[in-house]
Amino acid sequence: MANPTNLTRMEPIIELKDIEKSFGKVTALQGISLRLFPSEVHCLLGDNGAGKSTLIKILSGVHKPTKGEFLFANRRVELDSPRQALDLGIATVFQDLAMLPLMSITRNFFLGREPKRRVGPLQVFDTATAATTTTEELRKIGIRLRDPDQTVGTLSGGERQAVAIARAVYFGAKVLILDEPTSALGVKEAAVVLKYIVQAKTNGIGVIFITHNVHHAWAVGDAFTVLNRGRSYGTFRKAETHRERLLQMMAGGEELEALAVELDLIAKRDAGPAGQAEHRAAEDLGGEAKP
Ligand SMILES: Nc1ncnc2c1ncn2[C@@H]1O[C@H](COP(=O)(O)OP(=O)(O)O)[C@@H](O)[C@H]1O
Ligand SMILES: [Mg+2]
Repeated sequence: MANPTNLTRMEPIIELKDIEKSFGKVTALQGISLRLFPSEVHCLLGDNGAGKSTLIKILSGVHKPTKGEFLFANRRVELDSPRQALDLGIATVFQDLAMLPLMSITRNFFLGREPKRRVGPLQVFDTATAATTTTEELRKIGIRLRDPDQTVGTLSGGERQAVAIARAVYFGAKVLILDEPTSALGVKEAAVVLKYIVQAKTNGIGVIFITHNVHHAWAVGDAFTVLNRGRSYGTFRKAETHRERLLQMMAGGEELEALAVELDLIAKRDAGPAGQAEHRAAEDLGGEAKP
């Protein structure tokens, strides 16, 4: 598939300008600007409570921003529902996947978009078409189904992520948002999911990949936006930054440095064995402590 919106790779498929989101008195996001381009993996990094989920809920039409602009393919949009986001081609795979484990893989693949077949006056779910399509689409990403009627519950976590990604690609997503798709997976399974992320990108899709894991982000990311307590440290292209720098920002670098200095002061004050332990802890945090 070519670039699905006829945008050049220089034009963002999504642009957020100075987005703010408040829940009553709580400001969850402030001053967030970012641009997502076709055929790129844009990683969204940040600690718990940083505002990652709130941001993707804005992108996927669950929340409306309190302030700021949301542009899709250079046009300003106001999404009233997840359905509208989906119709534009913004597909979101939430962390819980919203799959039904006791239902067949085919049913899950077509959930909400069932192919219909006429039987007299009735429209019925076209099981045969659905099964063939599902098997074929999963084969494309390297999953061989023994039986499309097998339940989703029989798939591993990585395979379920794969089904969700294949589904988004099949239904023509231009933007694919993945919320922590690798966090519950083992090393090998995570690697497979990372491969699907790259495949989606190769298909022209702009991918927003939310993760805690800087190693996973670094392996596939072209751009990195780091959130901290509802604000952005900015977006960094891969060539402009380092993995260690991202780690430091995610950990709230300054806060850890301040803590290291504090531990060092305590260590100098009481020179006993406990003090030495604090001294070592300060060093581990990258503080100025020297033996
Ligand atoms: N519906 C809501 N009502 C009130 N506060 C919320 C709501 N959703 C998120 N928040 C607050 O916004 C902040 C960011 O949360 P969230 O986006 O879930 O962070 P993350 O996904 O990075 O862990 C938190 O302080 C959270 O308590
Ligand atoms: Mg979250």
